Amino acid sequence: MMKFALLILIALFGVSFASNDEGPITAQTVQKVGAKAYVYNPLLLGTNGTQKTDGGSRQQRMVGQWPALAGQGISQTVFTLEPCAMRPAHVHPRATGLLYMISGAKFMVGYVTEDGTPVNNEISTGASALFPIGLVHYQQNLDCFDATYVISYNHEDPGTQMTYASLQQLPAAAVAATLGVNTTGYSNLLSASPKGIFIKSSDPECVARCQLAPAKSGATVSAASVSG
Ligand SMILES: *[C@@H]1O[C@H](CO)[C@@H](O)[C@H](O)[C@H]1NC(C)=O
Ligand SMILES: *[C@@H]1O[C@H](CO)[C@@H](O)[C@H](O)[C@H]1NC(C)=O
Repeated sequence: MMKFALLILIALFGVSFASNDEGPITAQTVQKVGAKAYVYNPLLLGTNGTQKTDGGSRQQRMVGQWPALAGQGISQTVFTLEPCAMRPAHVHPRATGLLYMISGAKFMVGYVTEDGTPVNNEISTGASALFPIGLVHYQQNLDCFDATYVISYNHEDPGTQMTYASLQQLPAAAVAATLGVNTTGYSNLLSASPKGIFIKSSDPECVARCQLAPAKSGATVSAASVSG
């Protein structure tokens, strides 16, 4: 039990890794932090290990959650997306992502190249998909069953900038002009703007086909579509 508590402490605070950020893992390192520091099981952390929200859940395995990744240039997140839910448009400023589809069908992945070309694909179980560093991208489950996938990143702390939420931090007049709407139009968009890490019922055709309860506000769905 003591050992378990110690492991949790190391996992949460990672004090022992501070002096080892850049260096190789050596016999001394392993002796200092213990072999168990090199595995990470979010299930042992109970609800702390999984972010469950409307539309899906996420288990991040980044340096913040798993200090052993410090200096290793790699990290991972495991996702479950509910039927018709999506992971809205976002950017990782420090990493390229490589998705592996554990289980799913009718699963949309896409990004936009730096010169504006859309790269959209439908994938299913066993496929991989690339999301290049710094480019706006999304995932959307258009199947009537949960989709499960893992994304690995070539940075221990990839960072995530949500595209639509970020845009909203600019002056309203600047955003309204960017979107080509007047201030009334922009405040309507803002009031319908989705807030979470996932968007539930993101596609009306999917919701009808899968016979799900429609989203509470139709406006939420169209605002989400505007973001990308
Ligand atoms: C979850 O996090 C809280 C707050 O940091 C902590 O008190 C609790 O012990 C954690 N639970 C587990 C199972 O690690
Ligand atoms: C804002 O734009 C909408 C839609 O184009 C239009 O119906 C409305 O009259 C405009 N409002 C103002 C104050 O210009």
